[in-house]
Amino acid sequence: MTTFTKGAPVIVAEGLHKSYGETEAVLDLSFEARAGSVFALLGPNGAGKTTTINMLTTLLPIDRGRASVAGFDLAGKPDAVRQVIGLAGQAAAVDEKLTARENLDLFGRLYKIPKAERRARVEELIERFRMSDYADRTVGTYSGGQRRRLDVVASLIANPPALFLDEPTTGLDPRSRVELWDEIRGLADAGTAVLLTTQYLEEADRLADYILIMDEGRAVATGTAPELKDDLERDVLDVHFASEDDLERALTALEGFVSDYGTDPTVRQLTVPVAGGSANSLRLLRRIEDSGIPVVDFHYRRPTLDDVFLTHTYGAAV
Ligand SMILES: Nc1ncnc2c1ncn2[C@@H]1O[C@H](COP(=O)(O)OP(=O)(O)OP(=O)(O)O)[C@@H](O)[C@H]1O
Ligand SMILES: [Mg+2]
Repeated sequence: MTTFTKGAPVIVAEGLHKSYGETEAVLDLSFEARAGSVFALLGPNGAGKTTTINMLTTLLPIDRGRASVAGFDLAGKPDAVRQVIGLAGQAAAVDEKLTARENLDLFGRLYKIPKAERRARVEELIERFRMSDYADRTVGTYSGGQRRRLDVVASLIANPPALFLDEPTTGLDPRSRVELWDEIRGLADAGTAVLLTTQYLEEADRLADYILIMDEGRAVATGTAPELKDDLERDVLDVHFASEDDLERALTALEGFVSDYGTDPTVRQLTVPVAGGSANSLRLLRRIEDSGIPVVDFHYRRPTLDDVFLTHTYGAAV
């Protein structure tokens, strides 16, 4: 397979649009995913992530805009694109009636990998991803996580320069998830351009070199995880109360003082974004204290990617 110099744009989208009837699923989306890096598409359910992946992997025609993968234009050279990509889609592509070994061999044949090389590659992958115990059972008997793992492994068969992973770790147990993160990181470090979607913000924080947050088909924020956090230009104060009643009273005391806030009544927590540093945070705590409401504890912190996500996708407070 062709390899690209690290940093070279491998997956390029320019002004992509896609509608399903009245639904505008993707609107004017542009980005580049580079060789040697992990690019994460984040967004709530229905944001357009899978639609984007499906367009870039030739499964869906592009309505407007253009895209290329490894230098091949999606519209002009879809067959060439198919040979340079690996895809683990959101819906499983493996055959239930075949075993993992047979499925992997079949994927290898689709990429026209010669027989001996294909056999060796299948064995290597089964070993590396610890699938030996069930590799000769039909997929229909697998657990959800085993199936998901096979999907991802199948996308790696040809060692493609562009790898698309639509929620690769959904349904995996914590240990398998961390193992897969390491594998994905390793592939990117070896030069692959990885484009993944995820619902796990921790995953994007840990793994992604670059993040694009989408909402309702549009890009709403882009950057590295630290950049996205810095761009919020505020820190976050979490305050815990002894009862829901105290939490309610604190909200009343802070009326006119804070406009943005989030509450989690189950843990009696108030979360307030604070601009202007810790002095403002102290003023806020003092106001609660002056109103006679006891604070159990508080935590002043940098925003997490969850805070970034919630700010951009629901227009609400962190
Ligand atoms: N075949 C289809 N026909 C009509 N509407 C569709 C079709 N596929 C997707 N949509 C709509 O397009 C929008 C984007 O869907 P998409 O699957 O790309 O979202 P997503 O970001 O992948 O969401 P999720 O996180 O739930 O996987 C949604 O409103 C969805 O209902
Ligand atoms: Mg999806």
